[in-house]
Amino acid sequence: MKRTSLQQTFTVSITLFTICVIGAVAWFGYQQGKSVLIGELQRHGLSLAENLAYNSEYGLLFSDIEGLKKLVDGVSQNQDVLYVVIMTAEGGIIAEHGLYQYSRLERITQKRFVEYLQHIQAEAEPKLYDAENNDGIYDIFAPVYFTPEEGPANSVDPLPSSSVSTSPTPQQELLGVVVVGISFDRGSKLLRFLQLQILGLTLFIVVLALIVARFLVMKVSEPIEKLATGTRRIARGDLTQEVEINTQDEIGELAHSFNFMMHELRYSRQELELWAQTLEQRVQERTKEIQQKNQQLTELVESMKRIQEQLVHSEKMASLGQLVAGIAHEINNPVNFISSNISPLKQYIADVKQILRHYEKMRGLHPEQYAEIEKLKASLDFEFLLEDLDDLIRDIETGAIRIKDIVQDLRNFSRLDEAELKTIDIHQSLDTTLNLLGHLYENRITVHKQYGDIPPVECYAGQLNQVFMNILANAAQAFETKGNVWITTSLQTKDDHPGASAWLHVTFRDDGRGIPEDVLPKIFDPFFTTKDVGEGTGLGLSIAYGIIEKHRGELNVSSSIGEGTEFQVEIPVKLSQELRWREPVEKTET
Ligand SMILES: Nc1ncnc2c1ncn2[C@@H]1O[C@H](COP(=O)(O)OP(=O)(O)OP(=O)(O)O)[C@@H](O)[C@H]1O
Ligand SMILES: [Mg+2]
Repeated sequence: MKRTSLQQTFTVSITLFTICVIGAVAWFGYQQGKSVLIGELQRHGLSLAENLAYNSEYGLLFSDIEGLKKLVDGVSQNQDVLYVVIMTAEGGIIAEHGLYQYSRLERITQKRFVEYLQHIQAEAEPKLYDAENNDGIYDIFAPVYFTPEEGPANSVDPLPSSSVSTSPTPQQELLGVVVVGISFDRGSKLLRFLQLQILGLTLFIVVLALIVARFLVMKVSEPIEKLATGTRRIARGDLTQEVEINTQDEIGELAHSFNFMMHELRYSRQELELWAQTLEQRVQERTKEIQQKNQQLTELVESMKRIQEQLVHSEKMASLGQLVAGIAHEINNPVNFISSNISPLKQYIADVKQILRHYEKMRGLHPEQYAEIEKLKASLDFEFLLEDLDDLIRDIETGAIRIKDIVQDLRNFSRLDEAELKTIDIHQSLDTTLNLLGHLYENRITVHKQYGDIPPVECYAGQLNQVFMNILANAAQAFETKGNVWITTSLQTKDDHPGASAWLHVTFRDDGRGIPEDVLPKIFDPFFTTKDVGEGTGLGLSIAYGIIEKHRGELNVSSSIGEGTEFQVEIPVKLSQELRWREPVEKTET
């Protein structure tokens, strides 16, 4: 829809209203003026006609044509008079002025004169005939009477007026009729001038009204436009610019309220933004706190799990230790019988063999007896028996040694074997262990030694060797064919630890097959093995774990399938120092 501006509406309305009002007033004024002017003219004409009639009585009575002529000339001097005629009662023209010049003869002599005679018989008053052809000329007829009793003259009024009655009395006789023709030309000119003046005034007022309308519209529409612009700015979110209207009227008040509203809006928005910011910050802080708590909880759960696992493990170890200690003790005695008897048995068999060989050399036997012995030897496969006897004894010896080793392992595992604390060179210990494992490592495994600068370590030397042995043996068994093993040693200081401050770190890394995820948690369990029956006892790592625990250290493992496995050993450099702090603590704990 096309927008009509306030200015247009105001301008058109005020212009139309002004034109209507001024037009109505002008029309009314014009009509009034016109009727007043015509009235005045007519009164003037009637007055002239009556005066002339009054003064013509004598001249008509005595046929004083000259006198009547003078009267006619005198009246015709009047500005508005066009013609003057004095006529007899029969209609004859006695004196005239301008009658022929204005061609009024026909009008007054024929129709009007007869008509007028009828008129004065009824009303006996002058009569005014309106301008018939709109030519602005009025014909005024007035009668001239003769009154015999009062002499030749009508009652003379020095100032005759239209109000003077000329109505005939019974004694009166009609001498004649005077006709005066007056023109409205001057009045018309005056009215035209008046019209022009009114038109000019109307135009002036219209222009003035337009200027006033424009001023008023400007006064109203300009601030409204400013307010509208301000509203649009607010709608766009701009709350910075205030509307500048400083008038003291209602619009000024509206602008003031508008600015106040904007100020309040701005304030509310700032509050909201601030609130949103703080809220966001608070949410972030809370989220961070919750995350931290969550992390702490996860860590706590993890450490509780570890502690639980350790407790279960220790418990298992303790009960297993007792069981194993008992078994080791029971086996130890018979194994001792066997192993201690093997040497004398070997000696005895060697002696018996010697005696038998000696008998063989003796030729004192009867050939039949000899043949019987030979027969017996052959049936018993004596030569093989002698040879196999040695093998059997060697096997028994090997078995006995193996059993002894296992018992030793079991004793170590159950901590029966409490050796003295010794301070040793760990690098030498590692090298010796590698030498002992020579048969497993030779031509298969490349060992990369990354030995750090470490001091001599106080430990249960034999047991620590066994830890290295078990881990390195497992590493060697992790390869199908060839592989690498990295051994790293380093020193770490724990200044905030109340026990030993220096700690030894030894890591064993291989690039073997790795340990599956589901197997990893079980490898420290005693008797857990993935090897075939008879190939491994599954005690190696559980013993190692026990030994490291005894050293108040830690044994950890990490592994991934196809990439390899890493064992980390951590023990105090001075175990006695650690024990001095640990033992009272452990006692109060239990
Ligand atoms: N370096 C390694 N690479 C891959 N698997 C390993 C490694 N070390 C240990 N394991 C796994 O851990 C299991 C337990 O090892 P542990 O030394 O306790 O027993 P074992 O070696 O099987 O038997 P034993 O030590 O009596 O010969 C092994 O059977 C093996 O599956
Ligand atoms: Mg092993």
